Amino acid sequence: MYLAFLVAAAALVCGAASSNVNRHMKLLDVDNRIQSNSISRVPPRRSITFTKRPPAKLVHRPGSTVELTCEAIAAPAPSVHWFRNDVPVYEYDKESNEILDSNPTSLARVSSTLLLSRAEETAKYTCLVVSGSKTARRSSVVFNIDGGTDLSERSKLAPLSPRVLVWYKVFVDVMGSNVALPCRVRGHPRPHIIWRDHYGNDVKSDPRMKVLRSGELVISNLSWTDMGEFSCTATNMFGSAEITTFLYPAKPSDTSD
Ligand SMILES: *[C@@H]1O[C@H](CO)[C@@H](O)[C@H](O)[C@H]1NC(C)=O
Repeated sequence: MYLAFLVAAAALVCGAASSNVNRHMKLLDVDNRIQSNSISRVPPRRSITFTKRPPAKLVHRPGSTVELTCEAIAAPAPSVHWFRNDVPVYEYDKESNEILDSNPTSLARVSSTLLLSRAEETAKYTCLVVSGSKTARRSSVVFNIDGGTDLSERSKLAPLSPRVLVWYKVFVDVMGSNVALPCRVRGHPRPHIIWRDHYGNDVKSDPRMKVLRSGELVISNLSWTDMGEFSCTATNMFGSAEITTFLYPAKPSDTSD
């Protein structure tokens, strides 16, 4: 159990600057709270930790695609919402702005990417990370050197190989809970999604698992044997993309060692 916990902790901190000892200690502190079965008592002041954020300023050249990525760790599992000049980016992906409540016992490292394929006028883009009652935001000003030439209508229907835009890199929740692991994909035509468990088997064969049309993998009654890496592969005729989510089932707080 403890060893498995260290694996989860390592997966959580993987990617953060290894020289940043303080940050690592902070993350491991979060983990220790889970291990001592007190995840629901994590104090509310515990902040949302950004592990990736877009640059404060960047230039969008016509004909190119700009990618803005926010990645954050928080408990409960955070969701990420994108805004353009403080207005929700609805036309881009309605689902990404839905507020979904996560289980209060969950913890996740989430990654969310906004793709800007049309060069619009200079604007401020903001990712808002929501975790329970906590929020944190990071903004990026995207400059257009051409004053906003819109070449876009055509590009909506253009062939697009799949990209996974929203997923959890690591997800922790207590055994017995029902969990949803996102795999939000962009692509044209609409990509086909397959989730596989840590044996490489299609999850379709497990009656506790269900893949929703949105790409989410829903697992009911999380069990210890679910621990490991789940992969989501999105495929269309132009290519495929894959992400992995490390799933860590923690002990329920009503049992003790
Ligand atoms: C959940 O799984 C456990 C075993 O892993 C089983 O004992 C329990 O009955 C299951 N609960 C439900 C609601 O299916």
